[in-house]
Amino acid sequence: MKRLKTTLLMLASLFVTATAWSAPIEIKFSHVVAENTPKGQMALKFKELAEARLPGQVEVKVYPNSQLYTDAAVLQALQLGDVEIAAPALSKFQKYNAQLQVFDLPFLFNDMAAVDRFQKGPQGQKLLNSMTSKMLVGLGYLHNGMKQLSSNDPIRVPSDIAGKKFRIMTSDVLQAQYEAVHAIPLKKPFAEVFTLLQTRAIDGQESPWSNTYASKFFEVQSYVTETNHGLLDYLVVTSAEFWYGLPDGVRATLKQSMDEAIAYGNEIAARQDLEDRQHIIDSGKTKVITITDAERQQWVDAMKPVWKMFEDEIGSDLLDAALQSNQQ
Ligand code: SIN
Repeated sequence: MKRLKTTLLMLASLFVTATAWSAPIEIKFSHVVAENTPKGQMALKFKELAEARLPGQVEVKVYPNSQLYTDAAVLQALQLGDVEIAAPALSKFQKYNAQLQVFDLPFLFNDMAAVDRFQKGPQGQKLLNSMTSKMLVGLGYLHNGMKQLSSNDPIRVPSDIAGKKFRIMTSDVLQAQYEAVHAIPLKKPFAEVFTLLQTRAIDGQESPWSNTYASKFFEVQSYVTETNHGLLDYLVVTSAEFWYGLPDGVRATLKQSMDEAIAYGNEIAARQDLEDRQHIIDSGKTKVITITDAERQQWVDAMKPVWKMFEDEIGSDLLDAALQSNQQ
């Protein structure tokens, strides 16, 4: 009888252990934008692919719209193991690797094709994996697009924003960029931008078309000036502890799913950029201002000195490689 009891107890404990082992690995993916953006769609595609390929083994929970963390908090949360995947804008990594500031330099990349060449090249790939000592693993770059300026007042040339308050991401390059044109940059979380604009606590902001549209900034801004003055792209990151703690097969399948989700998100980004620009025009709520070459040159002349200010931190070799990517 005693032997039977012991055997039953052993079986019960084996059952409990086996159940615990077979519980799916929970992957929380936190981001700050709406679901109908390139990043929102990419995150959902990753969930779809990962769960279909690893049925019962992983469960991906996507939290959009800063529901879980702001970008400032999410990188720390990754390091602490409170969340598994995030995709903050490249501008938000400055304190983890100052070289990533290269992506914020105004008027550096001619277009998204140049950005793509740089990111896929040796220097871009090196940057992707440059934060492992901080326990952050880069899984890939994701595009959004070039930034435009939105404002309560019409903007054509740099003097039009002198003394005006603009929300920026937490980036010293962006701060210097606005100071170069005598505007007042304010580092604020993305989640606060709509209210800041609506209450007129700030005069304007800079975003690609998809964010200005999806987050409804255009509804509380009278003008968007098409400056294409800088880039807003993302780094999809995970924590080294989580990533390298996964079984090899699971990690490989998740990486494959992420690569495909990013390719999908990049296709959407290219398409949505133009579509959301048109949506904003069609809304009739905001006037889109197209500037002349001479007016654009005024922005370039005013903002380009910022490159020199950050050259030491970024490294001239990296800056040269980025510039080189403008050549086909
Ligand atoms: C995002 O697209 O993730 C938000 C970028 C920002 O903070 O402006």
